[in-house]
Amino acid sequence: MSLRPLISEEQIQARILEIGAQITADYPEGTLYLICILKGACFFLADLARAIQRDAFIDFMAISSYGKERTSSGEVKIIKDLDISLAGADVLIVEDIIDSGITLNYLTALLKTRNPRSVRIAALLDKPDRRIRPVDAAYVGFHIPDEFVVGYGLDFAEKYRNLRDVCVLTPDA
Ligand code: IMP
Ligand code: MG
Repeated sequence: MSLRPLISEEQIQARILEIGAQITADYPEGTLYLICILKGACFFLADLARAIQRDAFIDFMAISSYGKERTSSGEVKIIKDLDISLAGADVLIVEDIIDSGITLNYLTALLKTRNPRSVRIAALLDKPDRRIRPVDAAYVGFHIPDEFVVGYGLDFAEKYRNLRDVCVLTPDA
């Protein structure tokens, strides 16, 4: 396997400051919940939360990976649910990457059933060419081509999450 840097640490951090400022402006009042989708979004959440200049609550959800099967059935399983109630709150789902859209399409619909005031998505990366289910993300860090990426939280078989840059992972020829 070889790694090719795609988005540098500096580019990531600069973009997160922009998104954080935008979120700060877009939510002048109310209770804001940042919902981090484990594990991939953990670094993005940590940096984004600190780029938001207002009170923000944090909680975590873990969702089953349909990883190897790559099914398009739309089946998503909740492994760890939220500890908090979303009633009346502005909810921002914080995710590492939008690929097929199956995860976020399902999750957005699920969280909307819990009577929040609003539900939006912040995703660091988006691979629009791969979309199977529609996802409307209010905040996207970078649109990337259809390549498998790792680093800054993203993994391949649990490896490479702690790389500081986002890199394209390619099998050696
Ligand atoms: P979706 O439901 O297909 O949009 O899946 C999104 C999830 O698939 C992300 O949260 C990642 O865990 C994983 N994923 C999709 N593309 C990549 C990639 O290029 N690298 C690492 N993980 C990915
Ligand atoms: Mg993920």
